Amino acid sequence: MRKGNVYVIANWKMNPDTWVAAKELFLGVKKAASRVRKVNTVICPPFVYLSELINSYSGRSISFGVQDVHFEQKGSYTGEVSASQVRSVGATYAIVGHSERRALGETNEMINKKVLSALSEKLTVILCIGERDRDRQGEYLAFLRDELLGALEGVSKAALKNILITYEPIWAIGKTSEEAMKPHDVHGTVLFLRKLLAEKYDKKIALELPILYGGSVEPENAGALLEEGDVNGFLIGHSGLSVSDFTAILERADSSLG
Ligand code: PGA
Repeated sequence: MRKGNVYVIANWKMNPDTWVAAKELFLGVKKAASRVRKVNTVICPPFVYLSELINSYSGRSISFGVQDVHFEQKGSYTGEVSASQVRSVGATYAIVGHSERRALGETNEMINKKVLSALSEKLTVILCIGERDRDRQGEYLAFLRDELLGALEGVSKAALKNILITYEPIWAIGKTSEEAMKPHDVHGTVLFLRKLLAEKYDKKIALELPILYGGSVEPENAGALLEEGDVNGFLIGHSGLSVSDFTAILERADSSLG
């Protein structure tokens, strides 16, 4: 049985394609989340749906997050949304550094500034890191190290209570559970990340900071990833768009807590 918090976070990305469909999806998610008692369920819809969904929801089982924030709090940044704006409509989580944002040109420095900006607004940061490929020489480890330590530059020990490290190997995103990372390999990477955290901060933080996994989590591999992978939950893409898959993952996560 697992101890501690488990997070199941849905990243809806640029879906569903209409407000009507978003409302319908949320209805199903709401029902599922109200039945699980121990999991922290977080929904990260596109910005356009965020306020309406938050205002329509009176339950307590779901928290809301965004898929990105800008690093400045206000100003002339066409198309961007700030952490303070996000906070002001009632969202409490922010994904930062998703590989699909990095692919658009976000650097470790920009991601670090976004992390600091989100933390200053008391948002919980879902900090995504992950290698594009795994090379035999193990260079991906240095890559992961640079992403993790770069993003955490200037983040105090106290501020870490609002960080969820999310390991998402890019090569495993958007596939199927069969092609996802194997739980044993996830566990190896989690240990590596905890070692880096111990070096930067201390042992207690290294042991306790939640580390989530993302990349083709489906009902079929969710249980093994939690138990053998030893992660504190998931960031979920495509399975979050199917009420039945999302419900099954929530239930697996809930039952892992005993
Ligand atoms: P996936 O996406 O679950 O569809 O692989 C995960 C993510 O990109 O966060």
